[in-house]
This record gives sequence, C-alpha cells and structure tokens, in this order.
Amino acid sequence: MPTQSTSKQLWREVQVFDGLAQLDEPMTLLVEDGRIAGLWPAREFNEAYAEGAACAGRGGVMTPGLVDCHTHLVYAGNRAGEFEQRLEGVSYEEIARAGGGILSSVRATRAASEDELVAASLPRLDALLADGVTTVEIKSGYGLTVADEMKMLRVARRLGQLRPVRVITTLLGAHALPPEYAGRADDYVSLVCDEMIPAAAAEGLADAVDVFCEGIGFSPAQCERIYQAAQAHGLAIKAHAEQLSNLGGSALAARYGALSADHIEYLDEAGVRAMAEAGTVAVLLPGAFHVLRETRLPPIELLRQYQVPMAVASDANPGTSPICLPTLMANLACTLFRLTPREALSGMTAHGARALGRLDLGRIEVGAPADLCLWDIQQPAELAYAVQAGRLRQRIFNGEVVYAR
Ligand code: NIG
Ligand code: FE
Repeated sequence: MPTQSTSKQLWREVQVFDGLAQLDEPMTLLVEDGRIAGLWPAREFNEAYAEGAACAGRGGVMTPGLVDCHTHLVYAGNRAGEFEQRLEGVSYEEIARAGGGILSSVRATRAASEDELVAASLPRLDALLADGVTTVEIKSGYGLTVADEMKMLRVARRLGQLRPVRVITTLLGAHALPPEYAGRADDYVSLVCDEMIPAAAAEGLADAVDVFCEGIGFSPAQCERIYQAAQAHGLAIKAHAEQLSNLGGSALAARYGALSADHIEYLDEAGVRAMAEAGTVAVLLPGAFHVLRETRLPPIELLRQYQVPMAVASDANPGTSPICLPTLMANLACTLFRLTPREALSGMTAHGARALGRLDLGRIEVGAPADLCLWDIQQPAELAYAVQAGRLRQRIFNGEVVYAR
C-alpha cells in the first residue's frame, strides 16, 4: 500500500502578510508539490479542499520567506580595526584612498581558498537563514582578478547547494580598482568587460552584473561600458549608486533597464523619475547608513510619490554593514528611513524579489513557490517593531519545512 503523500501540507488559522499587505482575517494555506496550492479565509475552508493533507502548523504569522536582495556574504577576514578608526573620526573614503577598506578585504579574500571561503561564509549564511531568509543575493567584488572573482561566485553557488536557500549571484568586478591597475582604471574596466563578464556568463556563474558608481569606485562612463558588456552577455544589471555623492549612477543604470539601484542616499528627483520610468527598484540599505553614521537620508517621499518599489536588504559585508540580521534591517528601515512596517516588510519580500527579477518569489499567492516563514508573533508589524532573534517557528523552503522549532 502506498504511504500517504506528505507533499500536501496545511497551515491553519495563520495571519498572512502576502508580501504587499496583511490579509484581513486568519487564513488556511495549502502547500502541495513545492507550491502554494490554496489560500482560503479560515472560516470558509472546507476539508474537502485539501483531502489527504497533513496539518503542519496552526496560528502565528505567515510571511513569504525573506528575500535579502543585496549582500556581500563571501569574504575572508574582517575589518574591526577600521570600525575603530572610523569611530575616531577617519572617514570611509579616507580609509579607502589609503588602500584599506574594500582593498583590505580583497587581500584577505585573494589569499583564501574556495574551501576556506565556504567555511568563513557559512556561519553568516546560517545567521540569515535563522532569521527567515529563503532567497539571498551574493555579490563577488573582493577578488578583482578573473580567477578570484570566479572563485567567489563559485563559493556563492556552493553555499546554495549546502543549505536549503535560493542563491542569486552577482558579478561585482567593478567594486574597487585593484592596486596592480593603479592609474589604469580604463584598462581594468576592459578586463571586467572583455574577460570577467564573458567568463562568468560562459560558466553560468552570475545572474547579474553590479558596479560601484562613485568617486572612490568607477565613473558613470566606465559603468556604462560595463552595462553594455553585461547586456551583450544577457546578464541583468544592478548598481551601487548615489551612496556617498550624486554622480547620476541610478539614472544611468535605469537607462540600461537595471533591476535595481542600491543605497541611493544622494539620489535626486531626476534620478527617481528615471527609475520610475524604467521600473528600477530602489534598494535601501539601512545597515550601511547606520554603520557609516550617514546623515543624508534617501529620498523616501519622492520614491513614494513616483511609486518606485522600495526593497530593503542587509548589505551584509565586512566594511559598511557587518550585520547578518535581516529583521533588524526592517527595524532600521523604519526608525532611520521612516518606512512604515508594511513598507519595510514588502521591501524584504515582494520588492526584494523584484530587485532580483524574481516576480514569482516574495509573495504568498496560489501558484508561487512555497518559500515561507511562520513566526511566533501576533501581527506582521512586530517583525519591524521588535528586534529579537528566535521568533521564527518554521522556515519552509520549496514546500518543505526545513527548520522547525
Ligand atoms: O555596499 N559601497 C560599496 N560596497 C559595499 C561596501 C563594501 C566594503 O566596504 O567592503 C557597500 O556598502
Ligand atoms: Fe553593497
């Protein structure tokens, strides 16, 4: 006799935040074969709808699995010393110009083997998962040679095989100018365009290409060359833009149909308009704002006015955001940027997924992959309101309960 299929599971009496809003009443949710197969108000539910389904949970708040759409999770070493320097008044840019900052992580990452990088990055990934992440974007950008950038991307892909999580990878070859190219930035950009992007595309190692468009990064003209190469290889485009100054990097990225422009503290109205027209998502990174003790706020009101979707991400990295706690980002997005809790949660679900070009993720709707979190709270806003680990009761990935407390 065949055993009863356990691929059909039911959650009863859950408060649902569907990625955009909280539903009005408690719901019954059916998951079958890795997908959300049914969603009914609990009081309308009829047992015949879900014959043979096992009850997997009751009560609590169900959200889409969190989407952390901007991280630099793979690196070696740490930069605690620079943190202390900054507290003494040295700026992030001064440290970078003196050969520290990103380049300090580049030295450590180049020296590390693939296995060492996996071992260093796994605890950070596990911290994200324990806080409800089911999809994470991971950038390269601490290798800055073809071999070391590919090494980072391979590590990112391996992390996705070692844990039940979707990993989206982004080539960030244009993160900083490596010392061996000092005074030859255009030649380095050629290396990114002519060798790194083709290698990443050929090996299927990158889903997107990112740049650091900044005085201490790359000029808009250099970023444009990189976007052209990315497009020629069918890779999506993203940007670190308007983080420390306004170079028009977000508008440039939008002109190339970028999925997202990220940071954007110095974004102006023309940039917001360009993003709205292109459907480019604004990725807010309150962790970096907080750690750098930035005072210039991203133009939240303009983004609302132009209806630019706002994502929220951890930016987990050794320099500007050594923080692997996504729900803290929801809190900081509210306290520092004045997002509403609903906006912050949408930023870490539906809009985070949109920033990765994954419109199928970050939503609770029939037909979507069943990446879900069940939380021991009473209303979704609590995730942004309280900063508290350990509220995750279940993490459901692809229809399977992969963590249960
Ligand atoms: O998102 N701005 C550039 N890149 C990272 C920081 C990387 C680092 O400092 O290591 C960011 O803030
Ligand atoms: Fe970043």
